[in-house]
Amino acid sequence: MEPALQRRVQRYGWDKAVDDYERFWSAQLQPAQDRLLEMAALESGEHVLDLACGTGLVSLPAARAVGPSGRLVGTDISARMVERAREEAHREGLSHAVFERMGAEALDLPDGAFDVVLCALGLMYLPDASAALHEMRRVLAPGGRAVVAVWGARGKCGWADIFPIVDARVRSEVCPLFFMLGTGERLAHELASADFTDVTAERLSAVLEYATADDALGAAFAGGPVAMAYSRFDEATRAAAHAEYLASIAAYRQGEGYRIPGEFVVARGTRPAPEAA
Ligand SMILES: C[S@@+](CC[C@H](N)C(=O)[O-])C[C@H]1O[C@@H](n2cnc3c(N)ncnc32)[C@H](O)[C@@H]1O
Repeated sequence: MEPALQRRVQRYGWDKAVDDYERFWSAQLQPAQDRLLEMAALESGEHVLDLACGTGLVSLPAARAVGPSGRLVGTDISARMVERAREEAHREGLSHAVFERMGAEALDLPDGAFDVVLCALGLMYLPDASAALHEMRRVLAPGGRAVVAVWGARGKCGWADIFPIVDARVRSEVCPLFFMLGTGERLAHELASADFTDVTAERLSAVLEYATADDALGAAFAGGPVAMAYSRFDEATRAAAHAEYLASIAAYRQGEGYRIPGEFVVARGTRPAPEAA
């Protein structure tokens, strides 16, 4: 796996997914995003960085929580995601929220500049999640906190076959280790390895509800992590991949729709203050 290629696939894939993302994912990801924000316990006036911010589903509530005396910086590798988040913040008059296109593994941001760093459902897409965690620690002020959410274990995520289904048709370079961070104690371990202290992690079960088969397909293919590979499929390949994916989630069908199990892990750690380091 070539890291630069994986980053490009993510960058341009999420550019393609931007118009479908909230429609298919905002309700489904909300339990993890809400828990991440609760664990962050943001206070008025704080400076917050939201990595892999997407359309701003976490950035905007974070900006509201810190208020105009605070600051929210959202970054994402996809220019169109950043644009969308910026537009939403502008629409809401959140002028203390700014957004920049930036990869999470090399942040063009000063040391110690933030009280809190957030990353919701982003780390699984990075070729080097550990580098991003070290960057999160670097840009946090001493005593600052990081809160991250990832998808849980593969066996608990009923939609997981999307990856082999796409990989069988195109060399997609999507995210070979997608479920690794959410397996066992891995996420807490990665935070501790990046020198965070007071690390806690929680596992949440969720149900991803889709009212129709088309919605379940839209979420899995056009609106999510395989959007880049999917955009290259011809009609016949699309139809075959759709059929195979629907077969893989058939056990979760309820009436016209689907209730697909999912799992998230949300973890928090602190950058130690110098005396505690
Ligand atoms: C599932 S979305 C999550 C967006 C948002 N945090 C949320 O909770 O809705 C994943 C995001 O990760 C971004 N991403 C993928 N690889 C990245 C990288 N190397 N650096 C920064 N962002 C990245 C994608 O562009 C996409 O917006």
